[in-house]
Amino acid sequence: MADLSDIARRVEHLRAEVARHERLYRVEHQPEITDARFDALVRELQELEDAHPELAAPDSPSRTVGDDRLDAFETVRHIRPMASLDNTYSRDELSAFDQRLMRTLADERADPGEPLPYIVEPKIDGLAISLVYEDGRLVRAVTRGNGEEGDNVTANVRTIPTLPDHLDGDGHPDLIEIRGEIYMTLAEFQRVNQEREREGEPKFMNPRNLAAGTIKQLDPRVVARRRLEIVLYSVGAHEGIRFDRQRDVHERFRAWGLPVVEKYWQARGLGEAWAAIEELDRLRSTFAYPTDGAVIKLDRVAWQDIAGSTSKAPRWAISYKFAAEQAETVLRKISIQVGRTGALTPVAELDPVVIAGSTVSRATLHNEDEIARKDIREGDTVIVEKAGEIIPAVVRVVTEKRPAGAAPFDFAARLRELGHDAERVPGQAAWRLKGRNNPDLTRRRIEHFAGRTAMDIDGLGTEIVRQLIDADVVRDIPDLYRLKPDDLLPLEKFAQKSADNLVAAIDASRANDLWRLIHGLGIPHVGAQSAKDLARHFKSLDALMAADTGTLAEVDGIGPVMAESITAFFADPDNEARVRALADEAEVNTRALDADAPDQPQTLDGLTFVITGTLPSLSRDEAKALIESAGGKCTGSVSKKTDYLLAGESAGSKLDKANALGIPVIDEAKLRAMLDG
Ligand code: IVH
Repeated sequence: MADLSDIARRVEHLRAEVARHERLYRVEHQPEITDARFDALVRELQELEDAHPELAAPDSPSRTVGDDRLDAFETVRHIRPMASLDNTYSRDELSAFDQRLMRTLADERADPGEPLPYIVEPKIDGLAISLVYEDGRLVRAVTRGNGEEGDNVTANVRTIPTLPDHLDGDGHPDLIEIRGEIYMTLAEFQRVNQEREREGEPKFMNPRNLAAGTIKQLDPRVVARRRLEIVLYSVGAHEGIRFDRQRDVHERFRAWGLPVVEKYWQARGLGEAWAAIEELDRLRSTFAYPTDGAVIKLDRVAWQDIAGSTSKAPRWAISYKFAAEQAETVLRKISIQVGRTGALTPVAELDPVVIAGSTVSRATLHNEDEIARKDIREGDTVIVEKAGEIIPAVVRVVTEKRPAGAAPFDFAARLRELGHDAERVPGQAAWRLKGRNNPDLTRRRIEHFAGRTAMDIDGLGTEIVRQLIDADVVRDIPDLYRLKPDDLLPLEKFAQKSADNLVAAIDASRANDLWRLIHGLGIPHVGAQSAKDLARHFKSLDALMAADTGTLAEVDGIGPVMAESITAFFADPDNEARVRALADEAEVNTRALDADAPDQPQTLDGLTFVITGTLPSLSRDEAKALIESAGGKCTGSVSKKTDYLLAGESAGSKLDKANALGIPVIDEAKLRAMLDG
């Protein structure tokens, strides 16, 4: 039997761990462990606290709902606190929940043995939100925060296209807190991640983290560019209306035109509830939202009130989480991925294995500390998990199957073997390449510079860049502009014509618009869209470089993180030297092309376009540039917010969608007429 001081130490440790993971999940949106692992930690903590009441503490993370608040947002008090839910993973635990309620309600019912009326709903894997409607009008949207008070994210929530500003019908309550979940579809998650990959920015782990990170953006226009969705399922405070049953909540919401769950089940007793859960598990892959479990709620509100709540969660509702899918496989090798900014990320190369319907051959290992904490070694048999998560993760090692002689993984030594000149970022678990002449970093930097969404230099792809660096004819971006065909001819992949073409393509890029150069520099956090926002605002590279963080943060589309990143970038002497060499020696254009032109009439101001199909004379990029120069906006997918679909030949699903939504469809000729006003 462990003595009390051991137990106290364990409790202490668990509290710190739970608080840390809670923060990673709720504030940083970068969880390191799965929900199931997290729940297991909380449960162990709870059990120890129950068994040793002398160790219990009112502020233990086992009793609170955590906190998601950030300083940048206004804090708002919920009218009725937002509780969390107790999670279960087994039918036995559900049965205990049912038994408890039967006992609590015994005196209320003529036949205390009769099965209880439940509602079974999907448990949506998003982030909780509370909407305040007054007289049918949306006035506020608040995150859960610490359960008592949350962040005011109204402006961001208003960008959600499916959320009505006014409730349909009449007879609205004077006031109601409507609660639900904000989420992102898998398709939108993949679209955003593809875009980030193209722009060399780190990808998000899963739709939930992306949705949570998006709702905490300071600029609602960034939020509007990533399509968020919402689904509503419960009420907080309400005045001037009554709900007798949970079922009424769903039906009222539906009548008001609010997005509601696709399906819910009425069940009498636990047996029927269990059948509903099984059906939900079969159906959930067809739902629009990520569903990671079921929520079982007592249907009668009067009985809910009698059952009451704990400090953290109601006693009349519980969630049942579906087990994440796991599989066992062998980790062959740990490879190191090099990011655009020099970040070095470890990746597990696995024997391919099918999990949750797809083949997995790589999994994230997060960072050096995670590998050490889980003691993951090459050759180990590991458990890989793919939950709601899209990027699979290594959960643990099956140590019994460890091959003799497998050595602990030495991250620093591996980096040396690979020839990476790297350092660990002070205060972080991350490593990054160091030094201005690091060939890996130079390669990534040039690839990005030449990429389609940056300087768009034809013929300067990955292979050619590698060759130029290996042959030492290029050491940094400005060297590109000194290349002559004769420098290229000795290289393997070049003949006279291809050498001439590449030099001509590089030369042509000198005349590019300013935003391409800004994006091409590879400033961390600055993607193509932000580069356009910056170019539009500052009109010259000099003006951008002279701006301080405060000025930058005030530019439309630029938040504080990006502003910091931009000033830090130009403050670095290597970066400054590179930019100077490009501007002064290589004579690359550093002004916005429209900077000197008389202001073009903003005939499309405030209009949002989607472009699809092949246009008669314009490429899509050209059409986009025309629209933007007249003050319009282009987005990738058709929604209620789209004003016009510009369609050319062989338009496909976007055209169908526009027709279905009644969005006007125009051709190139009509666009030109609109441009001319
Ligand atoms: S009811 C007092 N219903 O899951 C009742 N919550 O893990 C509280 N959630 O805090 C919420 N789907 O953010 C409810 N159908 C559903 C839900 C749901 C997802 C969230 C909610 C809750 C968390 C608990």
